[in-house]
Amino acid sequence: MTDPAAERARWNRKYADPAFRGAHAPNQRLAAAAASLPPGLALDLACGLGENALAVARAGHRVVALDLSDTGLARARVAVTELEVGAGVGGGVGARVRFVHGDVLRPPLRTGLWDLVSCAYFLDRALFPWIRAAVRPGGAVFYETFTEARLRLQPDFPRRFCLRPGELPELFRDWEVLSSREDPEDPYPYAMLFARRPKTLYSVPGGC
Ligand SMILES: C[S@@+](CC[C@H](N)C(=O)[O-])C[C@H]1O[C@@H](n2cnc3c(N)ncnc32)[C@H](O)[C@@H]1O
Repeated sequence: MTDPAAERARWNRKYADPAFRGAHAPNQRLAAAAASLPPGLALDLACGLGENALAVARAGHRVVALDLSDTGLARARVAVTELEVGAGVGGGVGARVRFVHGDVLRPPLRTGLWDLVSCAYFLDRALFPWIRAAVRPGGAVFYETFTEARLRLQPDFPRRFCLRPGELPELFRDWEVLSSREDPEDPYPYAMLFARRPKTLYSVPGGC
């Protein structure tokens, strides 16, 4: 497991450079996934500069966005504030996002209540049991990150940050796949899964 203090310092250094823009733009696959769900309560893990959290909020959800980098979160909060004061451009979107400082591997948040849990371009396998518990029954997960196919293009990229072939659907094999993608020949190889947690097997018709 990565040392959180070292990881926080590493990302704070990156985000302290105003020229560092992270993903540059919201993830369009996450935006589409969020838009396909009724408005609810969403959680974006390792949110970086908050573009994805804002995209989920634009789809009508209330969003909690968690990251270890206080420097990144400060930039995300400024971006949201600017959106809100920008001549009505925000339309309340920013007000639906709360940025929280914390370690996703020790999340200061309750499980079992989120309609959507998303995570893009962060990988620590210890996180998956928590995500599976965090999504409410009937809620959804969106997960996307690099696959090992990336190592062909960038051999010095850390393998531990890359999904193995087929690993992502296997981690959610008992969930209903809503959409997925994994193409090792993609010029930008990643795996994406949008999947719904089964409703409890023991629901009582019309009941409690
Ligand atoms: C590659 S960036 C991805 C940011 C964003 N999800 C995106 O897709 O643009 C990885 C992010 O993970 C955050 N991070 C790393 N370790 C973390 C941890 N243990 N808990 C929370 N965030 C973490 C970093 O601060 C950084 O913002």
